[in-house]
Amino acid sequence: VRKVTVPRFLQAAEKGERLSMVTAYDHMWAGIMDEAGVDSILVGDSLSMVVQGHNSTLPVTLDEMIYHGRIVMRAVRRALVVVDMPFMSYQVSTEEAVRNAGRIMKETGADAVKLEGGAIQFDTIQAIMRAEIPVMAHVGMRPQAVRQLGGMGKVQRDEQQLLEDAQAAEAAGAFSIVLELVPADIAGRITKAVSIPTIGIGAGPHCSGQVLVGPDMLGLTPDFKPRFLKHYANLRQDALAAVRQYIGEVQSGEFPADEHCH
Ligand code: KIV
Ligand code: NA
Repeated sequence: VRKVTVPRFLQAAEKGERLSMVTAYDHMWAGIMDEAGVDSILVGDSLSMVVQGHNSTLPVTLDEMIYHGRIVMRAVRRALVVVDMPFMSYQVSTEEAVRNAGRIMKETGADAVKLEGGAIQFDTIQAIMRAEIPVMAHVGMRPQAVRQLGGMGKVQRDEQQLLEDAQAAEAAGAFSIVLELVPADIAGRITKAVSIPTIGIGAGPHCSGQVLVGPDMLGLTPDFKPRFLKHYANLRQDALAAVRQYIGEVQSGEFPADEHCH
């Protein structure tokens, strides 16, 4: 298999190939995503909510992100792996940000880090980039700013600010930008205005690629149904039906049958 590196990720975008990215947080699911052929796997800090059960992305720690990055990396052969820098691992100072990005790279073996912000993180993106660590920026709705935003579902419509953030991220040296919850026409104009690929979530079809939270797209979190999300499977329902069948067969004595016995 030909590993997707940062240069190959950029070459594919340059050729006009639409990039597919999905989140995964462990060895089993990263293996499934990688075998399916996604271009990139994001070990997102969404694991705070999806895996750990918190109601925001603020609680997850750097050590926990590194743990999940490591177990994902053991399964991935092809996809570009990006690990999110969690809340407060890059906001205090550029020095701390570089040290923490370095820990992620050294201790997980991932290809890149991602952090939230454009213009306000210009110095930080540049400092991490100067340590030769590829950085993906994240512009638009930024879940780590939930306490300032007052909620996580709000579409970001300030085109001037969004454009400024995307251009700042590019100028600071980011290799790509996630655009989250941005109107499709604005996301299209931003994608045209920058030379690095944009990866949209709730940002319409004009981005260079798309990202979805793996458990969301697979129907493992069926109560979460924002407009931008498409369910490609109903795995929570399937799992419930399977486990209920197992329980019933244990109770009735139907399982184990002769073929399961030694
Ligand atoms: O943490 C995450 O899952 C993300 C994606 C939604 C882009 O940042
Ligand atoms: Na994230």
